[in-house]
Amino acid sequence: MSEHGKTPVTVLGLGAMGTALVEALLTAGHPVTVWNRTASRTEAVAAKGASVASTVSEALAADTNAIVIACLLDYDSVHEVLDPVAAELAGRQLINLTNGTPGQAREMNAWAEELGAAYLDGGIMAVPPMIGTPAAFIFYSGSGTVFGRARTALETFGGVNYLGADPGLAPLHDIALLSGMYGYFVGVIQAYALVGSAGVKAREFAPLLRGWLDAMGGFLERSAEQIDDGDYVTDVVSNIEMQAAAFPNLAKAAADQGISAELLTPLQPLMDKRVADGHGAEDLIGVIELLKK
Ligand SMILES: NC(=O)c1ccc[n+]([C@@H]2O[C@H](COP(=O)([O-])OP(=O)(O)OC[C@H]3O[C@@H](n4cnc5c(N)ncnc54)[C@H](OP(=O)(O)O)[C@@H]3O)[C@@H](O)[C@H]2O)c1
Repeated sequence: MSEHGKTPVTVLGLGAMGTALVEALLTAGHPVTVWNRTASRTEAVAAKGASVASTVSEALAADTNAIVIACLLDYDSVHEVLDPVAAELAGRQLINLTNGTPGQAREMNAWAEELGAAYLDGGIMAVPPMIGTPAAFIFYSGSGTVFGRARTALETFGGVNYLGADPGLAPLHDIALLSGMYGYFVGVIQAYALVGSAGVKAREFAPLLRGWLDAMGGFLERSAEQIDDGDYVTDVVSNIEMQAAAFPNLAKAAADQGISAELLTPLQPLMDKRVADGHGAEDLIGVIELLKK
């Protein structure tokens, strides 16, 4: 941090997300240097006070004390941008806010450490308009030293959640939340398709779907207790044998209405296997045991 309590930051990548991050930093008064492959995308933030570098090397050299944030399309593009300047990363603090997997984060951490750089990975749980608002939060994991130094700057993006030294933990939590989100949308898409096949407008159905999903969301914590305790037997109200027997109706009703059930059908064989394995009286959530490879 500088004597004014501001942290110099160099941001590589000015897509929709990188631009939002830079705007949040500038609004809070942090000095920012930016680089983007397509130079024209730097103009908007330059007008708001960012210094523009025309090469990655120039961006890194602009302030050797600056924290370096990469927010690029994927890890391949991060390597494409940083590999040619690898020698210039020694002694630097690198934060990678590019979406990736735990394995990619651990690999990049090892690569950075080899170069003498300290590495922090991040998983952004927000869309660009949410950055800089309390609705945004970002998971971080990896170097606690980098997190500690960058914290004030990172807090300009939204809430911060540091998960520990294993750099894979941020993408792991990010992807777990995204998995929950996509599972949710699978059900939402299927439900709208089904009622839509009978001419029911999605807008008309939305309040019913919202009410139902909100009610089902209430079981989330109970499911967590069952998983942590490995107990899918106690206080079961809707056993899996009953559910496995009714579940084919979802696919049959969809087929009758001329709708594909392909988003939902992968659950059926897992339910059937739990029943066949003697867990018919247990809760659906015990299917989690079949996911462990
Ligand atoms: N947008 C969201 O809602 C959101 C939410 C959470 C997380 N994220 C993550 O944030 C990251 C950035 O997303 P975004 O929305 O900013 O994406 P975007 O608008 O598509 O921007 C992609 C950025 O990556 C750069 N890039 C792509 N390939 C490159 C390469 N080979 N070499 C150099 N630069 C390259 C682009 O440069 P050019 O301008 O030159 O093309 C641009 O700066 C992604 O990992 C994304 O998954 C995004």
